[in-house]
Amino acid sequence: MTDSNRVLIFDTTLRDGEQSPGATMTHDEKLEIAELLDDMGVDIIEAGFPIASEGDFRAVSEIAQRSKNAVICGLARAQFPDIDRCMEAIKHAAQPRIHTFIGTSPLHRAIPNLSMDEMAERIHDTVTHARNLTDNVQWSPMDATRTEWDYLCRVIEIAIKAGATTINIPDTVGYTAPRESADLIRRLIETVPGADEVVFATHCHNDLGMATANSLAAVEAGARQIECTINGLGERAGNTALEEVVMAMKVRHDIMPFDTGIDTRKIMHISRRVATVSGFQVQPNKAIVGKNAFAHESGIHQDGMLKNAETFEIMRPEDVGLAGTSLPLGKHSGRAALRAKLKDLGTEVGDNQLKDIFVRFKDLADRKKEVFDDDILALVSATTEGADAIQLVNLRVTCGTVPAEAEIELEIDGKDQQATSEGDGPVDATFKAIRVLHPNKARLQLYQVNAVTAGTDAQATVSVRLEEDGMIATGQSAHTDTVVASALAYIQALNRLAVRRAKVGPGADKREISYKEM
Ligand code: KIV
Ligand code: ZN
Repeated sequence: MTDSNRVLIFDTTLRDGEQSPGATMTHDEKLEIAELLDDMGVDIIEAGFPIASEGDFRAVSEIAQRSKNAVICGLARAQFPDIDRCMEAIKHAAQPRIHTFIGTSPLHRAIPNLSMDEMAERIHDTVTHARNLTDNVQWSPMDATRTEWDYLCRVIEIAIKAGATTINIPDTVGYTAPRESADLIRRLIETVPGADEVVFATHCHNDLGMATANSLAAVEAGARQIECTINGLGERAGNTALEEVVMAMKVRHDIMPFDTGIDTRKIMHISRRVATVSGFQVQPNKAIVGKNAFAHESGIHQDGMLKNAETFEIMRPEDVGLAGTSLPLGKHSGRAALRAKLKDLGTEVGDNQLKDIFVRFKDLADRKKEVFDDDILALVSATTEGADAIQLVNLRVTCGTVPAEAEIELEIDGKDQQATSEGDGPVDATFKAIRVLHPNKARLQLYQVNAVTAGTDAQATVSVRLEEDGMIATGQSAHTDTVVASALAYIQALNRLAVRRAKVGPGADKREISYKEM
């Protein structure tokens, strides 16, 4: 299986990525991201962990029914009920895959307290069971990079004999290094009987910042599936970033002659959507998708760039979906120009959302001379379909050398209400005033402000993440006034919490099982 140069891209943004504390996405957001992944050419989408919660099950099941091209995969521990639940969720996919796993390293074996032989038997039984349900079965020895070599070979052989079609080698704790990653894959392929019948996959975490390098090294050694997430989303330091491995193989095809099915022009859009819905903003200097990845601000760089773009650019912005030259919109631009711009930016919106974005665009254009692509995308992220129970009507804040005070007017369930509150700075005063009108126990887990473009008239995008009774909701907004953006983001998160609570009841969308519990 390793003579082909085609590398399968297995995206786990919706499973390993979404599992990252605080990155929880709503059902509709998961469907949207799955559609974008499918459309971008991802080969396998790991859509969730069906037994973990009702919410995960529903999302995997709906993604399975909707997906057009990708294989839809669900995660299951090495237990029959997990595997059955997983199959139930993916059964309507045109191409379903069960991914079952167990921790094989000494530390992980100690948790279920299984001897080596007992674990080997469990692997045989569960992979056989999965294979009786579908002919596409992936098996992972979790913490493979810290599993004893002989035992690793033994259990992989058992999984292959029991019918696994993909063997995934996880570096669960981000411990390995490139040479070691390559050696491990090469030796496994050379040693394990039956290895040539299956696809070897690499699944790296980024704790030491080596996930991309480790994944590419594994591919050079014979792995033909990379497991990754958009923006490298994932627990702790995250997973291998899809955009990094894909672009590395494209740009350095001379030394890494491997192909993927990814339409790289769709990377930027999906990166922004994942950042927005997860509330995990991309660091400005992040490779490929960071705001500065294609910005050449220093004098020397600009001079070189003007003479020949290749002086400092190893890939073209268009290759990752950044519009090359873009004309800013202004206050005289009409709805048609806005619609055309959104299309250029790869964003399709419904008529109602367009109306909403247009109102915000006009308001922004009155305050800001030029409205750039990033401004428009920030407005898109800040608008949501559907009527919200709480809406901001007016906000007036006094602050500076006097104590901050916010006077707020909200429309709550159609009724206008006003409140005033003092606080430790303008944002604190504003949030307190909102809480006077809408008392709640939600805990603020994250409050983040970013400037969309340069200049003091730049819009600020604000992300807010709230947690209440185990349910998490995020809100984002953009405005040239940071305090207004903060109020709007806070209100959006409160509205989303309310929707969640009403839909599923307290705690129902919480993940009940972590994939690490056995
Ligand atoms: O990191 C890991 O080991 C995992 C497994 C479930 C494959 O995510
Ligand atoms: Zn993982």
